[in-house]
Amino acid sequence: MTDLNGRKALVTGAAQGLGEGMARALASAGAKVVVADLQQDLGLKVAESLGDGHGFVSLDVTDDAGWQDAVSQATGLLGGLDILINNAGIEITSLLVDLDAGAARKQLEVNLLGTALGIKHAFRAMRPGGAAGNGGGGINVASVGATIAFPAIGVYSATKSGVDRLTRVAAMESGRLGYGVRVNCIYPGLVPTAMGAGLASDVARLGLFGSAEEAVGAVVGLTPSGRLGEVADMASAVVFLASDEASFINGVGLPVDGGMGM
Ligand SMILES: NC(=O)c1ccc[n+]([C@@H]2O[C@H](COP(=O)([O-])OP(=O)(O)OC[C@H]3O[C@@H](n4cnc5c(N)ncnc54)[C@H](O)[C@@H]3O)[C@@H](O)[C@H]2O)c1
Repeated sequence: MTDLNGRKALVTGAAQGLGEGMARALASAGAKVVVADLQQDLGLKVAESLGDGHGFVSLDVTDDAGWQDAVSQATGLLGGLDILINNAGIEITSLLVDLDAGAARKQLEVNLLGTALGIKHAFRAMRPGGAAGNGGGGINVASVGATIAFPAIGVYSATKSGVDRLTRVAAMESGRLGYGVRVNCIYPGLVPTAMGAGLASDVARLGLFGSAEEAVGAVVGLTPSGRLGEVADMASAVVFLASDEASFINGVGLPVDGGMGM
């Protein structure tokens, strides 16, 4: 099993869903983890269930000053920081003809700005001379939506394509400036979390599929592995990318989608 003993991780959006699974998998591999989320009650429960040495910080990823506090608290609590998982995200389903500017802005802010701010503060902490100062790894959670054209997730998919490009520029800046931080992203396929199940219902409600089950069937039909994704699929990919086994993997996007986005 991959060994992350001694590693110190901050996972955003870890109060539920994929982020919670990632936090649990990182902790199982030996890392100490700070759960960061808007949802305090749920986030605290996840952190407590991980055991001693783990913690929770309240964070809205769109808040620059909030990020500074969260990274500082996490670094203090863990005695360093060398893994950042930029997982927090939102998806607001809409046809482009019905686009609501506020909903579009919100997705851009959480998914794209939130990820960029995370990289900013993680780089500052992890680079030589930073509060943690030992380099490390960043993993951004993009989406299969960045690699395919699925109806009613136009703005969401655009934010995830942005996360993909941001990842590559971040890796290049870190390399050029000697920060010692690898940055990669993953493209998860559809996973029936609150977000994934909500999307299936939304596209049925919009009349694009006969029912949520039919929408799920269409996704599975486009997936060579013949099933939906599971939280554990995404968590394993993140543990691998964070580990030394992936030490020469940098600036890439890894599809974790059963082949849907090929
Ligand atoms: N579930 C899927 O099918 C799927 C597929 C591809 C990509 N993704 C991506 O995976 C990530 C996790 O998705 P999920 O399915 O677990 O979603 P989810 O809705 O179940 O959980 C998202 C978590 O992010 C938190 N969050 C939302 N806005 C935040 C903010 N501004 N600041 C801090 N935390 C915030 C929420 O409180 C929640 O705990 C997202 O980036 C999503 O876009 C999900």
